[in-house]
This record gives sequence, C-alpha cells and structure tokens, in this order.
Amino acid sequence: MKFFVDTADLAEIEEAASWGALAGVTTNPSLYARIGGKLADFPTHIQRICELTNGPVSAEATGEARADIIREGRELAALAPNVVVKVPTTIEGLAATRTLADEGIPVNMTLCFTVPQALLAARAGARYVSPFVGRFDDIAEDGIEQLSYIVSALSNYDFSSSGVLGPDGKRQSIEVIAASIRSVQHVTQAALLGADIATVPFNVLKKCVEHPLTTNGLAAFQKDWEKVTKA
Ligand code: G3P
Repeated sequence: MKFFVDTADLAEIEEAASWGALAGVTTNPSLYARIGGKLADFPTHIQRICELTNGPVSAEATGEARADIIREGRELAALAPNVVVKVPTTIEGLAATRTLADEGIPVNMTLCFTVPQALLAARAGARYVSPFVGRFDDIAEDGIEQLSYIVSALSNYDFSSSGVLGPDGKRQSIEVIAASIRSVQHVTQAALLGADIATVPFNVLKKCVEHPLTTNGLAAFQKDWEKVTKA
C-alpha cells in the first residue's frame, strides 16, 4: 500500500515528503478552507504542492454540472503534470470523468461510499476511487467493512481497457485510495484488505511511525551505547 498525505498544509506536505516514503497528496475544499486558503491563491497553492510532491496531487473541481467539472478539470490539469482532478461520484461527475479520462486527464472519484459507485467510477475511466472510511464510522456503520467490499468487488474485474488514457497511449487501470482515514487502525485494516493507497491526515501519519516500544527500545540502546563509549 502506498501512502498519500491528506492535507493542503504546505508545511505538513514538506515535512511528510522529507521522510522519503510519501507517494502523493490529496486535498479537498474543506482542507483548503482549513488553512485559510483564498480563491485567488488556489492555482498557485496547488502548483506549490505539486513542486513539493514527487507523485500525484489531487485537486478538487467544485462545479456540479458536467460542463463545469470538465472546464475546471482542464484548468487544474494545466497547472502541473502531476495534478489529478478530484471529482464527486455523481452522474455529472461520471460523465465529466469519461471526458477527462479520454483526454488523458487522471481523475480521482471522491465521496464514494458503495460498490456500485466504485464500479461505475472504474467504468467511467477514473484513475483513482476514494471510498470514505471514517464518515461511515461517524454514522455508526463500519467504514472498513464497506472499504473491503469495494476492494473485493473491483478485484473481480479488469478495468485496463476503460481507464484514463496514459502518455504512452495505453489506458491505466483504477487504484483504490482509502480516504477519510482517522486512525492508525484504519491504516492497518486498509493495508490488510488490499487497498492500493491510503490517504492519511498528517497527525495520523506521524502516529503511523511512532510506537512506545520503538521509543523505549531506542532509549535503552542509547543508554547502553553510552556505557560502551565510556568504557
Ligand atoms: O480527502 C477526503 C477525505 O479524506 C476526507 O476525510 O476526515 O473529512 O472524512 P474526512
């Protein structure tokens, strides 16, 4: 499983990228609002994230009609070669995804909650689909179980002929991004059930590295090494 960081915060992205294990970034309108982002600065902000990231960067189209999503998608894709256009899993979103995918613009279909939504996203040419885990938990349903259904259903079929047109003229198959991740346990479960990617908030990503046995073990090694160096 690959790790994306789910944030629009440049400092968090720079820090996470410096660890050497980051494969991409996802943003959404709420994450941009959270850092106090202004509309006029949005294009340059996405470009800055793309410079900091050696991998795909999802930037969300906010229009709801297919024509608006397509127009925004083309504008976002023109910002940097690693932009992925985030599109909601709606009828209008599916139609826009088909057009963008046929133009070679990768789409991440977001706000995906069910197996049929994920299958339709794949058939419409999405490069990624983002099932939301935590938001199921928020309504007292099991988000990891729902994610497992989507991973399992997609693995039953070959989508390589319906995917986004790649630079080599070949179509690219879909990957599942486990999104709305709220805990290390979510990350563990997403990997065990075979999600291709987890997009993880920065604070949870840090917790993924930290473990008290690692911290305590390191302290013990340091203490014993002092004995060696002083001997
Ligand atoms: O980027 C989409 C998703 O990860 C949002 O998560 O925590 O707002 O449900 P959350």
